[in-house]
Amino acid sequence: KESILEADFDAIVAAGDRVEPRDWMPEGYRKTLVRQIAQHAHSEIIGMQPEGNWITRAPSLRRKAILLAKVQDEAGHGLYLYSACETLGVSRDELTRLLIAGKQKYSSIFNYPTLSYADVGTIGWLVDGAAICNQVPLCRTSFGPYGRAMIRICKEESFHQRQGYELLMTMMRGTDEQRAMVQESVDRFWWPALMMFGPPDEESPNTAQSMAWGIKRNTNDDLRQRFVDMTVPQAEALGVTLPDPDLRWNDERGHHDFGQPDWDEFMQVVKGNGPCNAQRLVHRRRAHEDGAWVREAATAFAAKASA
Ligand code: 3HC
Repeated sequence: KESILEADFDAIVAAGDRVEPRDWMPEGYRKTLVRQIAQHAHSEIIGMQPEGNWITRAPSLRRKAILLAKVQDEAGHGLYLYSACETLGVSRDELTRLLIAGKQKYSSIFNYPTLSYADVGTIGWLVDGAAICNQVPLCRTSFGPYGRAMIRICKEESFHQRQGYELLMTMMRGTDEQRAMVQESVDRFWWPALMMFGPPDEESPNTAQSMAWGIKRNTNDDLRQRFVDMTVPQAEALGVTLPDPDLRWNDERGHHDFGQPDWDEFMQVVKGNGPCNAQRLVHRRRAHEDGAWVREAATAFAAKASA
């Protein structure tokens, strides 16, 4: 019986169709999806912290409103992704507990501090830009609920990316101090943005299997290359330099050659030793505890309503 179900699953993946929650699936497929979707959801929620850091200090009401809306969008992305993950039999409560206990990961990029207001633009331009390169292929991922969540998230990320770029363009047309602030911000975020795509393919234990299952449609290095090729002309139009002396166009390859991120730094950040890892989890734990009364009130109300 199981061999027929496995054949059905393999046929769905081979045809590039969607596996739905009620379909039979190998336990490893389910576990990989829980790991990746949970990590993606956690990234959206933790990502609210570095960006949120500037809401009370935005330079104008317009910039404050834009940033407020963006941070709320990220919360929504987290909720879509937790819901997609729940179709695999894990609860959002359990995933939140694992995150707070440091047992599940979130994207390395959010363990870096947002030290200047220009970082708000740089995160929109580079971090959401990298997220888009990684997430557009995920719209075609083999697991139905994840792919469908990605379609809406990608539309909102593209909007965020344009907003970040417009913010930086406005600053680049400002004073020398503003231009220097943008360049300093780009210098801090460029390499961590490249690390978002994960380790080099030959050091990625999950890529081959995730590609075979249609969870990933491209490898880490493919998407990193796509992001670099997309970003170089944008940096030129902005008037900023990217902090990589090895970055140059390679006519034979039809792509840009570029230097290697500091993979030791990457491993340290992923292990929990980045600049902001501890404070991100302390903040997340406190927010969860401060919100306990809302959950208890909602549960009490639901119990009364159903009594
Ligand atoms: N940060 C933290 N951990 C990372 C990482 C990163 N940038 N890149 C890789 N890792 C971890 C992996 O989770 C894996 O560890 P695990 O097996 O314990 O989970 C290990 O390093 C080896 O990496 P692999 O390449 O083998 O792992 P994956 O096949 O899972 O590939 C990935 C990593 C490309 C990040 C993939 O998980 C993925 O595409 N995830 C969904 C996209 C995502 O999470 N994006 C978050 C971006 S931030 C965001 O979207 C917010 C935006 O709105 C600003």
